[in-house]
Amino acid sequence: MSRKYFIAGNWKMNKTPEEGAKLASEIASIVSKDASVDVVICPTFTALDRVSQAIEGSAVKLGAQNLYPKTSGAYTGEISPEMLREVFAKFVILGHSERREYFGESDAFVNEKVKFSLENLINPILCIGETLEQREADETLEVVKTQLLGGLVGVEASQMGSVVVAYEPVWAIGTGKTATPKMAQEVHGSIRALLNEKYGDAVGEKVRILYGGSMKPANAEELLSQKDIDGGLIGGAALDSNSFCDLVAAAKRAP
Ligand code: PGA
Repeated sequence: MSRKYFIAGNWKMNKTPEEGAKLASEIASIVSKDASVDVVICPTFTALDRVSQAIEGSAVKLGAQNLYPKTSGAYTGEISPEMLREVFAKFVILGHSERREYFGESDAFVNEKVKFSLENLINPILCIGETLEQREADETLEVVKTQLLGGLVGVEASQMGSVVVAYEPVWAIGTGKTATPKMAQEVHGSIRALLNEKYGDAVGEKVRILYGGSMKPANAEELLSQKDIDGGLIGGAALDSNSFCDLVAAAKRAP
């Protein structure tokens, strides 16, 4: 089963609108109209509009880093899917470990957001992953299973074409420590098996499963050549157009 590679940049709380537009233009001019890899960039809310304009006409797509599962109303500080659609955002990162850790997001809340984003035509990138403590206690597969199935409660097989999963071992995020390709593939393989079990092979085999956690040009090739690693969710290396586009190029070369 061949799946189209998917490289997403998670800019986190970095880049002003001005800086974001510059970075996005550089990426757009390198990627141009080449859609052989899905390329998505996820700036902060204030930079979305400028970045959206900067990538117009290129194959680069826009994503947000969060949303709130309501249409509108008294939810101070939050953003609705409709507002994201208005600036042409197509994707949203949900359940990132930083949101789970610093903002107390539970699987149930992440699930509400996943369902609401799908109903409102924004494609969720559902992030899951274990902490170092959990890995050392040999709980990785259990944690990943709970977060995956918890995030997908009530999501139908027919909606899974719009869902991307990102496996991000928390201990590898921003630390320079990467899971070895073998370690990552082991978890990706079990995520695939869970998806196949829940939705059937025809659906599960089509879902893109990204790796995230200190992915950079130097380690991308080996990670991307693993059977169930279909791309990357990139933090640090997404803040520079050369390193980010080198990752896109690595995905293009991957088998
Ligand atoms: P990193 O971040 O590439 O800087 O480790 C990845 C992420 O948190 O999505």
